[in-house]
Amino acid sequence: MRILSGIQPSGALHIGNYFGMMKPAIELQERGEAYYFIANYHSMTSLFDPEERRKNSLDVALDFLACGLDPEKSVFWKQSDVPEVTELTWLLSTLTPMGLLERCHSYKDKMAKLSGGDKEKVNHGLFAYPVLMAADILAFDSTLVPVGKDQKQHLEVARDIANKFNNQYGETFVIPEPEIRESVATVPGTDGQKMSKSYGNTVEIFGEEKKLRKKIMKIVMDSRPPEEPKPDAEKNNAVQLLKLVAPEDVAKDWEDRLRAGGTGYGDLKKALFEHYWAYFEEPRNKRAELEQNLDYVNQVLKSGAEKAREVARQALDRAKKASGLD
Ligand code: ADP
Ligand code: TRP
Repeated sequence: MRILSGIQPSGALHIGNYFGMMKPAIELQERGEAYYFIANYHSMTSLFDPEERRKNSLDVALDFLACGLDPEKSVFWKQSDVPEVTELTWLLSTLTPMGLLERCHSYKDKMAKLSGGDKEKVNHGLFAYPVLMAADILAFDSTLVPVGKDQKQHLEVARDIANKFNNQYGETFVIPEPEIRESVATVPGTDGQKMSKSYGNTVEIFGEEKKLRKKIMKIVMDSRPPEEPKPDAEKNNAVQLLKLVAPEDVAKDWEDRLRAGGTGYGDLKKALFEHYWAYFEEPRNKRAELEQNLDYVNQVLKSGAEKAREVARQALDRAKKASGLD
């Protein structure tokens, strides 16, 4: 089994990223050959500050390693250190129908949000991004791709493009399968919408204690008084988050207390903060250590890129031969 996933360096990682993508990816490194990368080419579609990209990329490396990505078990690199992927993107793009990309949410939603002349701000990179993502996946003969639910459509595009290439030029690419955990398919943010950098409703994995406590205490609740029973307790944002970071019986106990009435939301949020803070304690210590050892982190990425290039080269060579370029 060849497992592959990528994450964009577009801001501090949050617990939606962690439970939706990083944790499954880290667990899967025990079950097959794992390939994980920092998608810095992808971040170029929406982030235009070079220093920020550099800093975010290092932060993602630190975050992922601190959370348990083991360089002895996984190949870990920065996307732009494997340029074979961008070459493959061109080959794939010539077999990608425009309509397929026009239907992608990443592009459609952005267009819908902008009005009139602002639509000009949507760049070709954002439109073509699913083709780059397909190349990321197909260049490594990936069989399994752990992602959050929002990436499901992009996986379908990758499968579609792989089939088109295989039909046109003969069997060249492995058809990848997504791995989407339904239990954490969409982690809610502090306002109840999907947790996302772009909605400003995130709880980061790492950061300053005071700031993070404040974010959790601000999680949006309804205005029912404490004594009122809450028959819909399982839908409560804080309860949903508690289920991710606290032992099952503890989370269930809070849910039951809300259901019965007599429990205030403030107490629930305090408990959530304590469990969340304890949950990430070990990664926090590991991250502080890694920060003191950036040479090691850079070395991990460098040797990961060398291994990744060898694999991507083979898939690219196959595709070039099959399509008559070589
Ligand atoms: P964001 O929405 O914050 O910009 P990304 O799109 O960079 O996050 O997502 C990186 C990875 O984390 C993807 O695999 C995505 O599916 C997953 N992910 C992001 N937000 C969530 C969430 N709220 N719940 C579950 N998974 C998520
Ligand atoms: N598009 C993904 C995201 O925004 C990141 C990504 C890029 C990716 N290439 C990938 C994920 C390949 C899985 C496989 O989250």
